[in-house]
Amino acid sequence: MKKLTSETLRQMYLDFFASKGHKIIASASLIPENDPSVLFTTAGMHPLVPYLLGEKHPAGNRLTDVQKCVRTGDIEEVGDASHLTFFEMLGNWSLGDYFKEDAISWSYEFLTGKDYLDIPVSDLAVTVFAGDEDAPRDEFSASVWEKRGIPKEKIFYLPKKNNWWIAGTTGPCGPDTEMFIDRGYKPCSENCDPSCDCGKYLEIWNNVFMEFFKDDKGNYSKLKQHNVDTGMGLERVLCISNGYKTVYETDPFQGAKAKIEELTGKKYDESEEITKAFRIILDHVRTSTFLIGDRRGVVPSNVDQGYVLRRLIRRAVRFGRTLELPEGSLAKIAKCYVEKYADVYTELKENEQKIYDELNKEEEKFSKTLSDGLKEFNKVINFIKGDIFPGKTAFRLYDTFGFPIEITEELAKEKGFTVDKEGYKAAEQAHIEKSKAGSEQKFKGGLAEQNETTARLHTATHLLNAALKKVLGDDGIHQKGSNITVERLRFDFNFPRKLLPEELASIEAWVNEAITANVPVTLEELTVEEAKAQGAEGVFDSKYGEKVKVYTMGNFSKEICGGPHAKTTGELHHFKIKKEEASSAGVRRIKAIID
Ligand code: SER
Repeated sequence: MKKLTSETLRQMYLDFFASKGHKIIASASLIPENDPSVLFTTAGMHPLVPYLLGEKHPAGNRLTDVQKCVRTGDIEEVGDASHLTFFEMLGNWSLGDYFKEDAISWSYEFLTGKDYLDIPVSDLAVTVFAGDEDAPRDEFSASVWEKRGIPKEKIFYLPKKNNWWIAGTTGPCGPDTEMFIDRGYKPCSENCDPSCDCGKYLEIWNNVFMEFFKDDKGNYSKLKQHNVDTGMGLERVLCISNGYKTVYETDPFQGAKAKIEELTGKKYDESEEITKAFRIILDHVRTSTFLIGDRRGVVPSNVDQGYVLRRLIRRAVRFGRTLELPEGSLAKIAKCYVEKYADVYTELKENEQKIYDELNKEEEKFSKTLSDGLKEFNKVINFIKGDIFPGKTAFRLYDTFGFPIEITEELAKEKGFTVDKEGYKAAEQAHIEKSKAGSEQKFKGGLAEQNETTARLHTATHLLNAALKKVLGDDGIHQKGSNITVERLRFDFNFPRKLLPEELASIEAWVNEAITANVPVTLEELTVEEAKAQGAEGVFDSKYGEKVKVYTMGNFSKEICGGPHAKTTGELHHFKIKKEEASSAGVRRIKAIID
């Protein structure tokens, strides 16, 4: 087997498929565009779904790429030998063009060819779909494998559970054929086959023959065209081809690993506990670097992608304590990744400073409260009778010390406790209601006499919120606070720097344009999912299925809000920004009036 670096493997793969008539396309963003159903791009097929369904791809019907992916379902597993939250997927695509014969033949050539991975045929095993009521047994794929040289006894027929691929629950899908390294161990039992996790077989590649569509009733129909979607995990291949035991031995991690050793004076393999902390930091900082550095970049926040990012950074900070990692280290570790990937993912270089700034800010914020939070945690845990960690305390750790619930759960688990999630949710709900009551109370004070003015200022606040995103070109900007008196509105939002005079002027102009357009302010009651699907701004928490009020002003703004509002934007007359200043770290404040 050939020893490869990540750089050679990427290039070798793309060149190979380019030589078979494929166009090389760039990785899409990690943040799916126009798909509010998932937070991240989790597989190579994700950005290509419209084309698998029949839309014409501008680059043609044979494509190849290396796609950035983030999967966060198993964050807690990171620290073992194989789980990663970020990875790269090598893929080749037929959009209604070639099918099983070519796909399998090229896979075989790439796996075994002397100029490519050069894996001995005797080290390979493959699986094909066993067939059921939805699709026939895939004897054709088996015959192609056999023709190429894979012996019959190394071709396994497996059911849908193993040999059918779909992203999520509905959409394009189909039977697949998977390729494995057979490590030559004795089978663990009579039934040992590639679906067994005894370690004899390691999956290396997957060819999906996407010719079906699964609807939300669970029915399968044939797609307009037959497609091929293949996925080969870059880190996995590096690991196998170099004979490494864990993905952390592969080259993308080496610079960052050396940096952590330098910063802490500790060695990666000093002890089990130290290795685990190293791995968590290595993985989480890499993923955070890619999320912040993405063209549709994420910043830490309390919702959606921003929350996952916050969780990753805070978990890295927490495990940094095990290594006595000095404050300010995350950005230094991130720099190793920016440099390592700079040629392949140029967006990291373009957003370099933003990556370091966001990491530093979040690290600093959490470092301040982490020690006190841990003290509090340890104090509480000593008094608990039984093994249930109170939800109320978990919420206090979140609210006061910034501990994401998942961190508290992990800490509790390490000591043999389970967090009372229901209690946590109840405490959270009580908190939300209390602060809602507080603001309604405040609002009422003004309403008694100044109903219309404050409603108009409130409407202006929505337009300002939308204008900030438009003018600053940053979808990650969200409301961090708002306060309205009869004189003015005050609006806080996350943004890393002072706004330029020309930016303020454009924001003002954008809001005034919306006012001049005099569009109606309409109210709809939607479920959280519907609101989200329509791209409404606002805080989405986990209250799925619940109805929320969404206020829309033409194409200018769509936001979840309790109201009340002006009837049309024209009622605001004219909007003027009076002041822009820092409110707290990473949060800016604008005061504005309407006259
Ligand atoms: N979509 C398949 C996977 O992710 C093949 O690319 O495994």
